[in-house]
Amino acid sequence: MSLLFLKFSNLVSGYGDTMVLRDVSGSVERGSVLGVLGRNGVGKTTLMKTLAGYIKPQGGTVTLNGRNVNALAPQDRLHAGMAYAPQENVVFGDLSVHENLWLHLDDKDESRYESCLKSFPRLVERMAQRSGLLSGGERKLLSFTRSMGLRSPLTILDEPTEGVQPENIHRMATLVRSQCATGAAFVIVEQNLEFLLSVADTVLVMDHGQVMLDSRVESTSREKLEEFLMV
Ligand SMILES: Nc1ncnc2c1ncn2[C@@H]1O[C@H](COP(=O)(O)OP(=O)(O)OP(=O)(O)O)[C@@H](O)[C@H]1O
Ligand SMILES: [Mg+2]
Repeated sequence: MSLLFLKFSNLVSGYGDTMVLRDVSGSVERGSVLGVLGRNGVGKTTLMKTLAGYIKPQGGTVTLNGRNVNALAPQDRLHAGMAYAPQENVVFGDLSVHENLWLHLDDKDESRYESCLKSFPRLVERMAQRSGLLSGGERKLLSFTRSMGLRSPLTILDEPTEGVQPENIHRMATLVRSQCATGAAFVIVEQNLEFLLSVADTVLVMDHGQVMLDSRVESTSREKLEEFLMV
């Protein structure tokens, strides 16, 4: 069995005539985390949407577990083993926390959410409430919890810690690492360098739709990464 789980090669992608990704390649192995860094507007979310199938690339390929998934719609990529928690519009505001967690699942296997709900008691307290009433950070926790409950072979998280309290960010890192220990892979876009360095095995730095650095975390330094993020 190959260790490589997700591979994306020479992606060219954008919106209509606006090209955002110019030639983006990278990969993530089973049981590991790829952290994606870059200043605002450099194309991180565009890359995640392209990986998840919401934007069709004009060039390049996305391979999941050795299979080219370019032609697959988002729902089919989910079934193929790719879960995606977007940066924006993360939960259904009119639905309760409970509905957000269970509506898309056929089974009622409570163990799916056990470790996340233990870590985030706030969600348990709010279970019957409309998700639209949650704070931005709490909505992020809900979106994170829902994605983790899928136990997908690959999970894409776009800025999961935005607005989340420090102690919960720390718990998120622990939860991600424990899923990694079971062989799951993650792609995580983050501005929070401390969280990213605590969780990632490899890091990909983007600028202007291109890859500036693709390195194992231990082969780079916090200072070097901070330099890339300076405006
Ligand atoms: N729907 C869209 N239509 C046209 N252009 C878009 C669209 N969404 C994003 N863009 C543009 O694409 C570029 C990259 O945006 P993207 O959201 O991928 O960046 P990002 O790195 O995720 O930024 P942030 O750190 O703010 O989340 C930006 O110039 C943005 O204005
Ligand atoms: Mg973004």
